[in-house]
Amino acid sequence: MASTTIPISCIITTANLSSSPHPFPRKHPKISSLNTNAPKRHNTIISCAASSTSNEDGHKNTVPSSSDNISERKLDRRNVLLGLGGLYGAYTVDPFALAAPVPAPDISKCGPATISFSEEKVPYSCCPPFYGPISDYTVPSFTKPNVRPAAHAVSESLSYIKKYKTAIKKMKELPCDDPRNFYQQANVHCAYCNGAYQLAGQAYDIHPSWLFFPFHRWYLYFYERILQSLINDPTFALPYWNWDNPPGMYFPAIFDDDESSPLYDEVRNQEHRGSFTMDLAYTTQDLAAKESQIIKNNLAIMYRQMVTNSPCPSLFFGAALRADGYGPGGSANGTVVNVPHNSVHRWVGDPRTKHNEDMGNFYSAAKDPVFYCHHSNVDRMWTIWKTLGGKRMDITDQDYLNSEFLFYDENKNLVKVKVRDSLDNEKLGYIFQDMPTPWKRFKLTRKRTKPPRSPKSIPAAADVLPATLNKILTFSVARPTTSRTKADKEEMEELLNLGLEYDDTKYIRFDVFLNDDEEVNELELDRAEYASSFANLAHVHERAGDHTPTKTTWSLPITELLEDLGIEGDDKVVVTLVPKCGGRSMNITKAVIKLVACY
Ligand code: C2O
Repeated sequence: MASTTIPISCIITTANLSSSPHPFPRKHPKISSLNTNAPKRHNTIISCAASSTSNEDGHKNTVPSSSDNISERKLDRRNVLLGLGGLYGAYTVDPFALAAPVPAPDISKCGPATISFSEEKVPYSCCPPFYGPISDYTVPSFTKPNVRPAAHAVSESLSYIKKYKTAIKKMKELPCDDPRNFYQQANVHCAYCNGAYQLAGQAYDIHPSWLFFPFHRWYLYFYERILQSLINDPTFALPYWNWDNPPGMYFPAIFDDDESSPLYDEVRNQEHRGSFTMDLAYTTQDLAAKESQIIKNNLAIMYRQMVTNSPCPSLFFGAALRADGYGPGGSANGTVVNVPHNSVHRWVGDPRTKHNEDMGNFYSAAKDPVFYCHHSNVDRMWTIWKTLGGKRMDITDQDYLNSEFLFYDENKNLVKVKVRDSLDNEKLGYIFQDMPTPWKRFKLTRKRTKPPRSPKSIPAAADVLPATLNKILTFSVARPTTSRTKADKEEMEELLNLGLEYDDTKYIRFDVFLNDDEEVNELELDRAEYASSFANLAHVHERAGDHTPTKTTWSLPITELLEDLGIEGDDKVVVTLVPKCGGRSMNITKAVIKLVACY
């Protein structure tokens, strides 16, 4: 017989909402149809400070605290290859690297988990109930793939919604110690993300690494199969939150329109329900821009993150993680993991709670059924990214391909899977409903109307930095070379590397513009000058009481921007940083432009 202890996680299903920092309307906003022409509620500004001390999650690019001989040797070699500070997380073919994939976690050593961005322990165990032997998983062969629908497109499909609700209801009703139980499934995420397991002597978290995409793909795969088996319908497929397409840039109605539904979760930001337009780079503050502008900004953000800022696997997937931990550059989020993945988590999380539960903190995120809908679209981004050309291909490093995870399948068997079997979603039996991807054609070529101040009248980075980002900062950065040839550009990426030092206990967002100045129109991101948004968030503290600032280098590819701005011949580039939230906690230490081989 299985253990009779009831995991507390099965009882605590909602966070304590009593510590509301400010009153929230309890009435449900009227749900208009998800039609972009419908009138929308006005997006209002919420003070950044209102909740800025309470919740943080997500990830930073950390500098490793220990350096053994091997990582020092790797450091030397990578400095030569990449230039110090640039693309540290890159996974080169490194003769010094220990060739060892990340093994499946040892469940017998599973311990307490830590709430993301805090020193508090999760008040229940996130460890899986252990039911016996582990077998290697064989992916069944599928004759016809299931089609995961866009969530906004099924809001009228009563039979689909009924199936989905029934399946989740049954999942919630399973005994608490059944690994297929809804809360046990949520705990799978908590265990892999909040340090319940150890890897190379550190709290294990799959997020700021190349394991992000394959882990979540496998996780959804088994979750979906459990749902299928509970309703005896092998054709059931999870919906995806189509936030990259204007009709999907709202909270999906099927999770929101019925408070008694198993798909509903009370622990969400009540302001963002109904027809409130999403800001895909949100941290804590809704922008005072018109809905039409926010939608254009979102398309610009999608284009930048999927195309401009992820020209090669190391930038798209994030830092290499092996059995001996991270390389010398430490952890690093993939481009899309930072924005919009983390920011959408934050946008859904409830500011009335201490840690932005449920969606805004990794330990609790999967207690909200919308988690799986969000991740279904994140998964879709992986599939789409590989069709965008250039070097956008899967990682071929054997340590990556042979890394392993453990999951429970739909029959409660504990199975071991490998990254290599997750690369093709169709082989896992599903594809995505076709939806427009307007961001692909959303080329940011519109330039500011008034020319910015000339680089000559703007101080050099060295004269301005280091500086706190408590106001807009503008400085010029010298380029190593000008007017590069096409072949040259294909071989080397021109990267703007920003040295950041910040308090990771604070929400921080800032936006980067090139060839612009203090008069930048900061609410318009749909312009050639816009490079990217930093909405990077903290992760589990390795050591209690450690409040030393996080130091990292943030690398932005700028080749395409220079072309679009017509300034490829300039020997200096003007960089403008616009703080949107928490800038006082961000120190910009340096800015350099480097040519780096990107792979
Ligand atoms: Cu594993 Cu979106 O988080």
